[in-house]
Amino acid sequence: MTFKLPDGNDVDALKNVSIDLRKGELLSILGPSGCGKSTLLNIVAGFLTPTDGQVMLNGHQVTGPGAERGMVFQQGALFEWMNVRKNIGFGPAMQGMAETQIRPRVDALLETVGLNGFANKAVYELSGGMQQRVALARCLANDPDVILMDEPLGALDALTREKMQSLILKLWKETGKTIILITHSVEEALLLGERLLVMAPRPGHIHREYQLPFADMAVDTDLRNIKKHPDFNQRREEILSMIWEMEEDIMGMKA
Ligand SMILES: Nc1ncnc2c1ncn2[C@@H]1O[C@H](COP(=O)(O)OP(=O)(O)O)[C@@H](O)[C@H]1O
Ligand SMILES: [Mg+2]
Repeated sequence: MTFKLPDGNDVDALKNVSIDLRKGELLSILGPSGCGKSTLLNIVAGFLTPTDGQVMLNGHQVTGPGAERGMVFQQGALFEWMNVRKNIGFGPAMQGMAETQIRPRVDALLETVGLNGFANKAVYELSGGMQQRVALARCLANDPDVILMDEPLGALDALTREKMQSLILKLWKETGKTIILITHSVEEALLLGERLLVMAPRPGHIHREYQLPFADMAVDTDLRNIKKHPDFNQRREEILSMIWEMEEDIMGMKA
């Protein structure tokens, strides 16, 4: 993916990136700022057309946004003028589903994301964590094959973030959805990835790939216990050092 800047210069945002995503896989992507994570996700979402290469889903080329790919943004993507129920039911309503069918689907999703009793609340009445629960439910309401998350928990405080990490793991296990999750947090990338891709910049590419046991472990163990696991700590240190060096490199090049 090459961006053309107004001054005529090119930015090579991504180069030679190739990923095979297995159905039902939970993939996390980590990397320093500017390494092309959002660009990659936006290409998969169909918001951006790559200057070269393609995205294939279920044998069809992606040419634009589609209901089979759902996106969860960091924040601010809910409709402030609609209550929780309307927000969650928005996709199905747009697809022409009858109100009598939408209602039970929204109720079930409220239960799934732990927001029973919040259907009639306004978005501004909810905490940041609750808003992200609504965003997850709204995404699930379209029953997408693939869920794309761009730093979905980035704006939350530590405790809320940990609860949401558990929720994402629970949703992954219960729904069997394929998920790509981008994060800045090494811990989160380790917890929320069966596979982890570490990206590096200039131009953005996949630097390292890890197969990880933690997401599976976390389905029936407390996240705290996993974070204390020696294997987890070892991986965290290894990846932190790697990213640290990358950041130093980037700073060095900028100086
Ligand atoms: N619309 C755009 N026009 C020009 N350059 C862009 C655009 N979007 C992203 N870039 C550049 O592409 C690179 C990757 O950006 P991005 O995908 O946002 O990185 P990340 O999400 O990893 O922080 C950066 O150098 C960024 O400045
Ligand atoms: Mg980004």
